[in-house]
Amino acid sequence: MNNYKRVEEILEKQKLDAVLVSNGKNMRYISGFAGETGYVYISKLRHAVITDFRYTIQAEMEAEGYEIITIANGGYEEAINEILKAEQVNRLGFEAEDMLYSNYMSLKDKLQVEELVPLKDDIARLRRIKTPRELDMIRQAEAIGDKVFTEILTFIKPGMTELEIAARIEYLLKVNGAGGLSFPAIVASGINSSMPHAVPSLKKIENGDFLTMDFGCVYEGYCSDMTRTIVIGKASDKQKEVYNTVLEAQLAALDFIKAGYQGKEVDKVARDIIYKAGYEGCFGHGLGHSVGLFIHESPRLSYMEEDILLPGMIETVEPGIYIKGFGGVRIEDLVVVTEDGHENYTHSDKKLIEL
Ligand code: GLY
Ligand code: MN
Ligand code: MN
Repeated sequence: MNNYKRVEEILEKQKLDAVLVSNGKNMRYISGFAGETGYVYISKLRHAVITDFRYTIQAEMEAEGYEIITIANGGYEEAINEILKAEQVNRLGFEAEDMLYSNYMSLKDKLQVEELVPLKDDIARLRRIKTPRELDMIRQAEAIGDKVFTEILTFIKPGMTELEIAARIEYLLKVNGAGGLSFPAIVASGINSSMPHAVPSLKKIENGDFLTMDFGCVYEGYCSDMTRTIVIGKASDKQKEVYNTVLEAQLAALDFIKAGYQGKEVDKVARDIIYKAGYEGCFGHGLGHSVGLFIHESPRLSYMEEDILLPGMIETVEPGIYIKGFGGVRIEDLVVVTEDGHENYTHSDKKLIEL
């Protein structure tokens, strides 16, 4: 990965002499350096990874074609100042959405530059359309999730705690090749499943429970994300009705999604179905989000998202119905948007599983 050329769009648009990238994942996107510590400096003439001794060799191996600068006793500010001076930088962009106030104050105080120009989501926007290589990593990450879902179904037994199941999912993700987790696995049973982001607890799963499992892993830096909800034992009529409404909403949104629609238009397709079935107020989050080096990226599928979907964008499609005191259902797939539809990277079954 070596995307410094793409930062030139930002230099030109914002009339900057150089940009200092500080977010670890953005550093990785731009330079290939996965150490996530330090800065990446980009100007028209120079591109450098500035890091500390612990990461020098790694940066040399990963950031192909980059100058690698190891900070000395003067710290980051001194190392950056040397470049700023050599290049006569006046306007330096920095990632305002990714910097501690204290860090900003220190840069403002010590950097010898006329103007520190705050960037908003400029770099995140570069990441929206995935390259074939990135899509391949995400596809592989999601494939690990599918495999783990099949395996976890043979493990789950009434009497186990949510924590035991979550731990097993996380273990299986790694055993199957994941380098890490996109986020701690969500395992929520019974009435806990009415909380979309419930934290796994010592609650034991019992017959009659909904069991929602939402998990993802990181493969070569790229995240996956999927959710399946099952029923322990026989599903009640009400459970079937709720489940099938969520499934209908998800299938309709999947059928609808394609390049050219705004995120909010796709959200509406699923939302209308859920609301018309009488569950207004029970689906309080957006339909989906993009995924990449970060688990949550833009554009989103939400009632507020005006941006238009383009081929090569990743989206989750994850409607849910959450009923306090009863339980909840979410079904989540990960897709890549194409010119005339989508390719679904999630292959796990969506018929209601009664375990
Ligand atoms: N649990 C993270 C997500 O599905 O967005
Ligand atoms: Mn998820
Ligand atoms: Mn998600």
